[in-house]
Amino acid sequence: MSDPDVVRIFDTTLRDGEQAPGIALTKAEKVEIAEQLARLDVDIIEAGFPVSGEGEFQAVREIASSVRGPVIAALARVVPGDIERAAEALKGAERWRIHTFISTSQIHLQDMLRMSYDQVLEGIRDGVKLAVGFTEDVEFSAQDATRTELDFLLECFRVAVEAGATTINVPDTVGYAMPHEFGELVRTVRESVPDQVVISTHCHNDLGLAVANSLAGIVNGARQVEVAVNGIGERAGNCSLEEIAMIVRTRSEALGVRHHLNLKEISRTSRLVSMTTGYSVQPNKAVVGSSAFAHESGIHQHGVLSNRATYEIMDPLEIGLEGNRLVLGKHSGRHAFADALAKIGIELEADHLNRAFARFKELADRKIQLTDQDLAAIVSEELGSTEAEVFVLESLQVGGGTHLSPTASVRLRRGEEVIEDSAMGDGMIDAACGAIQRAAGVEARLVTFNVSSVTGGTDALGDVVVQLEVDGRRVTGRGVSVDVVEASARAYLAAINRALQIANGNGRGKDVKP
Ligand code: KIV
Ligand code: ZN
Repeated sequence: MSDPDVVRIFDTTLRDGEQAPGIALTKAEKVEIAEQLARLDVDIIEAGFPVSGEGEFQAVREIASSVRGPVIAALARVVPGDIERAAEALKGAERWRIHTFISTSQIHLQDMLRMSYDQVLEGIRDGVKLAVGFTEDVEFSAQDATRTELDFLLECFRVAVEAGATTINVPDTVGYAMPHEFGELVRTVRESVPDQVVISTHCHNDLGLAVANSLAGIVNGARQVEVAVNGIGERAGNCSLEEIAMIVRTRSEALGVRHHLNLKEISRTSRLVSMTTGYSVQPNKAVVGSSAFAHESGIHQHGVLSNRATYEIMDPLEIGLEGNRLVLGKHSGRHAFADALAKIGIELEADHLNRAFARFKELADRKIQLTDQDLAAIVSEELGSTEAEVFVLESLQVGGGTHLSPTASVRLRRGEEVIEDSAMGDGMIDAACGAIQRAAGVEARLVTFNVSSVTGGTDALGDVVVQLEVDGRRVTGRGVSVDVVEASARAYLAAINRALQIANGNGRGKDVKP
């Protein structure tokens, strides 16, 4: 029997997190995130929803066969095609789980699934039984559990357990519950299923209560929490991994539970997910925001200088927050580069390393020294582009100023073909993006544009994340450069490349979302 005081951390960044609008990770990025989650020691990684598309299937398969440590899970509706596809994708894993689900609330049954209660119960029985034929580790989720009639919900869970489910998940799919209600619901479910079945929470953040509700679940007997790094996910997102991790760590005695996370990896995991998804972390976000450990008031600064505990309840070193060290310059070689990456926990395959090194050299020639944060940003831009690269930016020329109309000319390469085009715009960034659009022959609408600097100072690398709408689909791109116009152009082209890659069928079929 497993330790009753341990809360399992089930990470759904790659599945529910990746469903957030505009996020479309490449396979390499997904594998990189999964490897980082393994370093963080999460108990379960939900790698994706294999039936939703070929790209998604391949990514789950790659993660299952290469990432060691955590249980690898995949999502499936309670239908044979989904469950068989999930099993196929997962079978290379050391330990794996099928996570199967169906909606149970009246509103979903009536207006979405058009199914009766009896049909749902039959679906659960058959689906869970089929999954158990592939693996003993089967989780069942009742989608929209918090708006489901209680007796029917308990009946669904009873049927799932009887068919062999070992984890029962109680999702607050629409983020509607309040902590006292959700806690009560989890307690009722806990009391109605056998002790060896693990009760899980899956809380969405529509009312900003995902973490509070998950905590209420833990207090009332849940021993698995479904979370996403930086709280990303559908709409307002999911319960944030780092917040629940640090609540359980900091208030372990009061809660009477613990987890097995390797907390030193929290900060790096948050950074990696933010960089690859293009979802930046708000500065005042608990635990991982850039201001989470910054003290502005003189009184606070004075207190912290003599004893950190006067105003800090957590040690930033515990979550792996070490300063921003200068690490490399233009004379650094490939070895030093690989070494510096290894020190911040990044290991790349030879091909990715070569490309990232070439990019590093290009930037180091234009910037005197690069910090560990710069390196992480370069790698993330490179990983994002390697798979999606349909067009490569060969050169960019821009002109403009207070009295000149901004113009830009670009040269792109697609295989052997070189394409040149130019455009005018409202500003130099606008002109550069217009020229790229013309050269690539893609109609794109800019949805969001976010520019920040990787570190401080006027010589900082500019870090640009754009979200475009291409053929009705939102895609994100990221670009890093010493020059903000070039960073914007790179981000714009990365997003276009990603859209083309998805259109070519090498991406998630986001139309089939749970
Ligand atoms: O929010 C939800 O209900 C889900 C399920 C598929 C678990 O994501
Ligand atoms: Zn969800």
